[in-house]
This record gives sequence, C-alpha cells and structure tokens, in this order.
Amino acid sequence: ASPSTRTATGAETGAAADTRGQQAEYLTTAQGARLYDTDHSLKAGERGPTLLQDHHLREKITHFDHERIPERVVHARGAAAHGVFVGYGTAAQVCKAGFLAEGVTTPVFTRFSTVVGSRGSADTVRDTRGFATKFYTAEGTFDLVGNNIPVFFIQDGIKFPDIIHAVKPHPDREIPQAQSAHDTFWDFVSLHTEATHHLFWHLSDRGIPRSYRMMEGFGVHTFRLVDAKGATTLAKFHWKPKLGVHSLTWEEAQLINGIDPDFHRRDLADAIESGAFPQWELGIQVFPDTPEQTFEGIDLLDPTKIVPEELAPVQPIGMLTLNRNPTNFFAETEQVAFHVGHLPPGIDVTDDPLLHARLFSYLDTQITRLGGPNFAQIPINRPHAPVNDMLRDGFHQHAVQSGVAPYKPNTLDGGCPFMAGADVGAYVEVAQPVAQSVKQREAPASFADHFTQPRLFYRSLSPVEREHVVRAFTFELGKCYEQSIRERALRILANVDAELCAQVADGLGLPAPEATKPVGEVTPSPALSQIGQVWPTA
Ligand code: HEM
Repeated sequence: ASPSTRTATGAETGAAADTRGQQAEYLTTAQGARLYDTDHSLKAGERGPTLLQDHHLREKITHFDHERIPERVVHARGAAAHGVFVGYGTAAQVCKAGFLAEGVTTPVFTRFSTVVGSRGSADTVRDTRGFATKFYTAEGTFDLVGNNIPVFFIQDGIKFPDIIHAVKPHPDREIPQAQSAHDTFWDFVSLHTEATHHLFWHLSDRGIPRSYRMMEGFGVHTFRLVDAKGATTLAKFHWKPKLGVHSLTWEEAQLINGIDPDFHRRDLADAIESGAFPQWELGIQVFPDTPEQTFEGIDLLDPTKIVPEELAPVQPIGMLTLNRNPTNFFAETEQVAFHVGHLPPGIDVTDDPLLHARLFSYLDTQITRLGGPNFAQIPINRPHAPVNDMLRDGFHQHAVQSGVAPYKPNTLDGGCPFMAGADVGAYVEVAQPVAQSVKQREAPASFADHFTQPRLFYRSLSPVEREHVVRAFTFELGKCYEQSIRERALRILANVDAELCAQVADGLGLPAPEATKPVGEVTPSPALSQIGQVWPTA
C-alpha cells in the first residue's frame, strides 16, 4: 500500500534535476560520446561540401531549431525565485492544511510577471503584475496564482479570451507591445462597466510598481477553508511585502523602460544574490461561510469586489522568504506550470465564475505550452509529496512506472490499491448545496454595482495619487484614435467621480458628461492607499 510506484526518476521525491551543462572537461554528444571539435563541420575536403554524415552537426543544428516553446498566452514575461514559507500556526482555527501549522517550513517557487507584454517586453510598463507561488507541501502542491491587484476586469471567465484579445496588441499592426494605451483596450473597458474597479487600480500607481519586492499580492477569489473538524470558513489571501508598497512615477517608469528594460528582474535577482532576501507575510481575511456567501452586503463570489480591511482585517498566517535565484531561466522560470486547482486538503474553491474558468484553462494551455500531458514530471513542477497516480504514457513520459495494473480495483498489484480517507489526509471536496434552478447565463443581481468600489478606491487615495490617476487616464485616453471611445470612457468616469471626470475631460479637450447612475457617498478606506508605507515593525 505504499504510494510509490513511480520510482525510476525519483519524480515523487523532488530529486535533483539532470544537471547537464558545459562546464566539464570535455564536450559530448547528447549520447555521451566525446567530441573533438564543435567549431567546424565535417566536409569533403577543405572547401566542402558539408557532409550529412556529421552526426554532431545535425544534432547541434536540429536541437537548436527546436529550442523555442510557445510563450504563455498571458503573463509571458516573468522572473522567479526559490524560497521557503514558514507557517505561524495561526490559521489552524480555520484551516487544517499542514503547511500552515506552526513552524512548518515548505519550499516554494514564486514567479512574478506582467500580463500583456511578450517575453521580450519591458518590465516597467503600466500593467497588472502576476504573483504566483508554488508551495511544495508534504500534502501535495498548493499554487496560489494571484495578482498585485485584488480585483479583476471581468466577473465571468467566459469573457477572458475577449478581455485578453482587447488588451493584446492590435491584430493589424501588432502595436502597442505592452501598454494598455490603445483603442481596443479602451473599447473593451468602456463597454464593460464591470472592469471599472480593476481599471482604477491599473491606472493608479499600483500599475507601475517600483519593484517586485515592493508589491502586495492577492489571491483575488474567495476560497473555502476547512478546519480539522470539517467546519468551513470563506477566505481571501493577501501577501504583504515587508519592504512596504512602493511605485514608480510615470516619468521614472518611462525612463527606466529605455535605460533598463530588465529593471524588475534585475532588481529581484540582485537583491537575492546580495543576501537582501525579499519577504512577504501571508494573511487571510476570513468570513463566515453563510448560504448567501456575502459579507457586509458584498458578494464574495464577485471577483470585481474587495472587502475593505476595516471590515475584515488581514490576519497573518505565515512568512514567505525568497532566498535563491533560479539556476536556469528556461528550466525553472519558463517551464513552471501553476494551476488554481492545485490545492492541499484544507483549501477548497468557491463558485466564483471567474475561478471556475481558470480551473479549466491552466492545465489546458500548459498541455500545448509544455508539449503534452506529462509536464508535472519536469523538475520544477514535481511535487515533493509522494506521487502514485494511474496516469500513463503520453509525450515526454519520463517515469518508468512499475506494476501492471494502472486501474482500480485490481487484484494484481498487491491487492486493491490503497485509497486514503479524509481521516488520513485525502483531499475531499466540501459538500455544497447546488441551486435548484433552471440553467442560466445571467450574472446574479449582486454583481451589478460596478461603481461604488472604484469610487471607494479613488477617494481613498492621497491628493498626489489622485493626480497620478487623472494624468494616467488623460495620457492613455489621449492615445485613442477613436473619439467615441474617449467619450464613452468619460461617461464611466462621470459615474465614479465628477471631479475626476471633469479633470480628464479638460485634459482631453472634451466636454465632461453627467453621471447616469446616482453617485453615492463612500467612506474612504485608509488601508487601500498604502503606497509608500513600510511594514509595521512593532
Ligand atoms: C497565467 C493570474 C484570470 C488564464 C497567469 C499567471 C498568473 C495569473 C499570475 C502567470 C502564471 C505564471 O507565472 O506562470 C490570474 C489571476 C486571474 C486570472 C489573478 C483572475 C483573478 C485568468 C482567467 C483565465 C486565465 C479567467 C482563463 C479563463 C491564464 C492562462 C495563463 C495564465 C492561460 C498562462 C498559463 C501558462 O501558460 O502557464 N494567470 N489569472 N487567467 N492565466 Fe491567469
């Protein structure tokens, strides 16, 4: 009954990767035969022609011809680091996941990224940043695949291809490469008012972070936590950087783009190399798991909404330290494959419709990007928990599985393979009632308010931060060729804040429209405006 059939590669133990390199005394072919010359091809006579018989030439060129894999369809440009996560034990009252227990140290790999630009684009563009962490826990891998902005542009994952088609470069001219200042982006966000909240964060200083080390991270969706007795709680994950949250000004970002397009990845690697290990505290906001799944009137399944920290404080549950740079960018940073469905016992999903599309999308896209269904065997993706699956064969199969009965039940491989129960650490989905209604595509009415929270965000900013937002809207909308798009975007701003709308309209030389929805009062939230603040040391 021991779960260890895939022994041949050591895949389940996280064994050291194949370390082939070019540092040894002599070069070899891929088959290990020593080479005496890699600089000249085999020719018929001194002046050729070159002979097809030259195996080394053919192997070297063929391999080179196939060096590239598709870049990620989004978040293509990234930088990553290894580290450790240490649990505080404070989460135990709501979550049984073993890696959160006091003092438990779990190896991690974190990849930061921009969303829109291609692999070779610049770092300091205005964009949302990815913040994805793979926890190699003893109970199976947990991936927290979040962003540096706590909300998302859309409420339903069926619209993800649409928003991404809109933010990516125009199909005809393939411009702009990595900025959001263009017609299709503004066409989309002005036609989809649900995008307004994310748009405001994106156009604030949060859209141009100073450093990956100085960004917050958010799991965005609400997750369901399960404690040791099976009781459930709803929760949102937050990463708080120890260095505080800091941004660039627009002018700094533009200059740096030209001077050092690798600014963020250099900053991360240099800091780690010099021993200044970046740290983030992981925290959770917790909410009672009620049938409505709302908190203080906020729908917890709506990924365009936050819960202000004044209403639900972030409770610290552990510390992440990034302390080792990758050895090989391609093997690690490029081939790492995150998935929101990689969850250990104690953490479950909710019915957020954005999250559900993600549960499908990541594995699907990685099958293409990483060349087949066996990429969990790539060293960076190997779980550190024992693996005993019945998955077989397929492209790039590295395991040499023992046993003859990859099905269950069987009477050949030592009897019926062991199935763990919940009491011995199996992952069991939380039973949830399903609505007894007809199939429907419409969003719930509680998803309909698209302006209160952007207003809350904007009015929580300091005067200088607001000025930056006004300038960002004015600059970006000024880049739109279509006047009708600019006008429609102004109508959205009018529904958020009349003064902001008037300032942007003035900058664009257009009349400021009236609000079409009642513009309510909100209480500014100090916790939202944290730019420049440093970790509380007490
Ligand atoms: C990649 C975050 C929504 C599809 C990523 C990455 C992050 C991320 C951080 C980069 C992973 C890496 O570094 O390798 C988010 C967040 C979302 C969101 C926070 C919303 C809250 C979605 C949705 C979909 C989607 C709705 C599709 C329905 C993808 C795909 C990739 C990706 C296809 C590329 C994955 C790969 O090739 O490895 N996302 N995403 N994302 N995301 Fe999302």
